[in-house]
This record gives sequence, C-alpha cells and structure tokens, in this order.
Amino acid sequence: MPKVRTSWICQQCGATSPAYLGRCPGCGEWHTMVETIEERAGPGGAARRVGRATLQPLAQVTRQGQDRVPVQISEFNRVLGGGLVPGSMVLIGGDPGIGKSTIVLQVAALLGSKDHPVVYVSAEESVHQLKMRAERLGVNSEHILVLAETDVAEILGSMEGIDPALLIVDSIQTVMVGEITSAAGSVSQVRECTARLMQWAKPNDVPVFVIGHVTKEGTIAGPRVLEHMVDAVLYLEGDRFHQYRILRAVKNRFGSTDEVGVFEMAGTGLREIMNPSEAFLEERTGDGTGSAVAVTMEGTRPILVEVQALSTTSAYGLPRRSANGLDTNRLQLLVAVLQKRVGMGLGTQDIYANVVGGLRIIEPAADLAIAVALASSFRNVPVDPKMAVIGEIGLSGELRMVNQLDRRVMEVSRLGFGRVVVPEGVRRGAVRQDGIEIIARRQLADAIDAALA
Ligand SMILES: Nc1ncnc2c1ncn2[C@@H]1O[C@H](COP(=O)(O)OP(=O)(O)OP(=O)(O)O)[C@@H](O)[C@H]1O
Ligand SMILES: [Mg+2]
Ligand SMILES: [Zn+2]
Repeated sequence: MPKVRTSWICQQCGATSPAYLGRCPGCGEWHTMVETIEERAGPGGAARRVGRATLQPLAQVTRQGQDRVPVQISEFNRVLGGGLVPGSMVLIGGDPGIGKSTIVLQVAALLGSKDHPVVYVSAEESVHQLKMRAERLGVNSEHILVLAETDVAEILGSMEGIDPALLIVDSIQTVMVGEITSAAGSVSQVRECTARLMQWAKPNDVPVFVIGHVTKEGTIAGPRVLEHMVDAVLYLEGDRFHQYRILRAVKNRFGSTDEVGVFEMAGTGLREIMNPSEAFLEERTGDGTGSAVAVTMEGTRPILVEVQALSTTSAYGLPRRSANGLDTNRLQLLVAVLQKRVGMGLGTQDIYANVVGGLRIIEPAADLAIAVALASSFRNVPVDPKMAVIGEIGLSGELRMVNQLDRRVMEVSRLGFGRVVVPEGVRRGAVRQDGIEIIARRQLADAIDAALA
C-alpha cells in the first residue's frame, strides 16, 4: 500500500513545512500549523496536453463582455473602483458579526433583475434566517435566488440555465468540494473551492463575492490564504461596540486600494456616511480638557476625528499606558518625547488615549493631536474647540511635515473650524486656505503652546 504523504500547512497564511513547527515560518503565528494529507490534483486540475498553447499579440486581443456594473451604494462602488467587473472574484473579509452578510445582501437587492437575478448561497445560515435579515433590512428580495448548500459542485450545478448578475458565497470557509478529504475551512478546501468558483466565473462573465471570516485561531483558514488568488480583497472593519464600519480595499486588480467606504450599522442595515468628519465629531462637547481634533487620511479622503487623552497620577511604581484605536508603542514614544523635549513630568502618570467612534488611526499625522490632548489633560487647560491640529512628531521634538496637508486643511476649513496648527514647511511654501487661521510651528513645544493658548 502506498504510504500517505502528509505536510503541515499554516491555516493563517498557507506556508508549508514537511514537519511540525510550533510557530509558522511564514507569518510568525503560533500553533497554526495543521497536518494535511497531500491531495492529488482534482478533476479541475491541469490535464496533460503539451504543444497546444499559442501566443497572440496583445493588441489583437478583444475585450470580452460588458463594462463595469455600478452598484447603487456609492461608498461600496467607490471601494470597488467604480463598479463590479464581470467575471471578477471579490473576497469580502471581516471579523465575525461585523456585517458582511448584511452588506452583500444590500448589494444583492440592488443588482438583481428579472433576467439576471442574484444568487445568494448561504452555507452558514438557513434560507429562513436569510429571509429574516432581508425583512429587517427592508430589501426587495424579488430578484434574489437563495440556496442553502455547502457542496460547490451542487452550487454550480444549480445555476444551470440561469445567467446571474452576481453570485454570493457566504462563506468560503463553510463550503467544500467532495474530492478533498480535509474538513471545510481547511487551507486546501478553501483554496480548491475558490479555484472551482473562479473556473466557473471567468467563462460565464459573472462576478462572484466570497465571504471570509478573519480568525485568530488556526482551525479555520483565514482569508489571507486567498488574497493572491482573487481579483479584489475588501475588508469590512470596525469596532463591534461602535456603529461605524469601514470598507477598505487591500487589493484590487481593477482599481485603487486607496479608497475606503464609511458606513453606519443600524437596525435597517448599513447606511452610507457621506460626511464622515461630521459623523465622527458628532458627540464632541468641546469644553473639556484632554481632547483634540486630528485629521487622518482614509485613502484620498481626509477625515476629522476626536482624540482623547487622560493623564492621572499613578498609584503604582510602574505607570500604565493604554491606547484604544492607536498603537500603544506610538503612544509610549510620544510620551517619551513630551517628557524629554517638552519637559512634561509624565513619568509618574498613568496615561490613556482613545480615538472616538471606534476608528483606528495608524498615521503619524495624528501624533500632534495625541500630544496636544495629553498636554491638555496634564496641564488641565482645554483646547480651543474650533481648532484642529496636524503633524508628525520626530524624536528630537520637532514637528514634521505630513502628506496632503492642503487637502487636510481644506477639510478642516469646510467643517467650520477657525484655526489649525500645522508643521512649518522648510522647503515647501506656506499652506493657504481662505477663512481659516493657519498656525505653522516647527517645534512641538511651540505647537502645544499655540493649541493650549
Ligand atoms: N436588529 C438589529 N439592529 C441593529 N443592528 C443589528 C440588528 N441585528 C443585527 N445587527 C447588526 O448586524 C451585525 C451582524 O451582521 P451580519 O450577520 O451581516 O454579520 P456577519 O459579518 O455576516 O456575521 P457572521 O460572522 O455571523 O456571518 C450585528 O453584529 C449587529 O451589529
Ligand atoms: Mg454572515
Ligand atoms: Zn503562517
């Protein structure tokens, strides 16, 4: 009897190893390597036909099918790069419960028509559960065909004679192909299912959405193992305890990955937020200490957000530093710069920082807002509520230039702020914007003095 060959595959990133490893050499995650029987090539695999390939000039290749199909949810459309490309495969990833099924159902309701319905395959929920969601969202379900099925062959077979506008598979981790013995959700299943769907989608010119859960533990293959196969990868992000959701393209073969869509989760589904800055500043009272307004770029859009900080005398020898929506290491670095370069006695202070609304800021352009909020709390002096602050902070306590400063300042002005603190450009000329006072500073200490005046 032939010996069964096995290998160890990381369920997060798909890296392989001939022997067990506690830590994945690919992504560095622990305990994600799972033993898998090496699969023979399935019927979908390459048949041996040599000598049939012909080269052709690119100029003579005709463009197939129709153009992009726009989706009537502009925030979604923007992230797609202007619409759905026929035959393309889009992976929609996100944490469990974040709203993936909700958003695709809303898209389905808008795209389906009598001749070209949307096929929604639910491998996770029953058709009754789907119906309940559709009713709650108030979507018109007339042109949505539903199927509760996990076998990919059955799914593709059921579409015989239908020319769908879109196929949705919810989720890729719960469907399977019969030829592979490993469980649904394993790397080999997830990859093979995606490959089969793709082989069907391309010649039929039907766009496909596959939903994938992002998981931390290694039992179910994360969407990362699919990123290189599909045409576009969109992640729905957000904090489950806040209503805002951000749809972000991390890969897009047919568009920019700079764009994000901003939504709000409501009982009736995801609602587009056309004016994210206004939304994120909605609950701001503006008269307390420890609050500053930062301007962060989400793709090509500037968004104003409130950053809060609290500094209190520490009861223990080792003071706490805790950040929510910000990188804790960045916070620690800023605290160190404030201590050493501005002379603030933060060494015995517990420090907490928070971005309001559940947004995550990774941009250093928000450094100044964090520092100003912290200085405001520490000195117990409020920041002018009609002021925004922009700037990256260097280790020697200097304020560094940020990209797209003009656009950021324009957004600050548009929202009716009277003043904005910016880095003083060394090489570039001054930023100009009518109707707003621009306070340019080179040193962090001066910028803080200007903001807390
Ligand atoms: N009645 C409701 N009112 C407001 N929000 C609701 C209501 N019901 C559900 N939601 C929101 O919808 C979210 C679940 O949405 P959805 O089922 O689309 O998420 P999902 O990403 O597909 O989840 P799963 O990982 O379970 O498939 C909930 O976390 C909640 O925020
Ligand atoms: Mg779901
Ligand atoms: Zn890995």
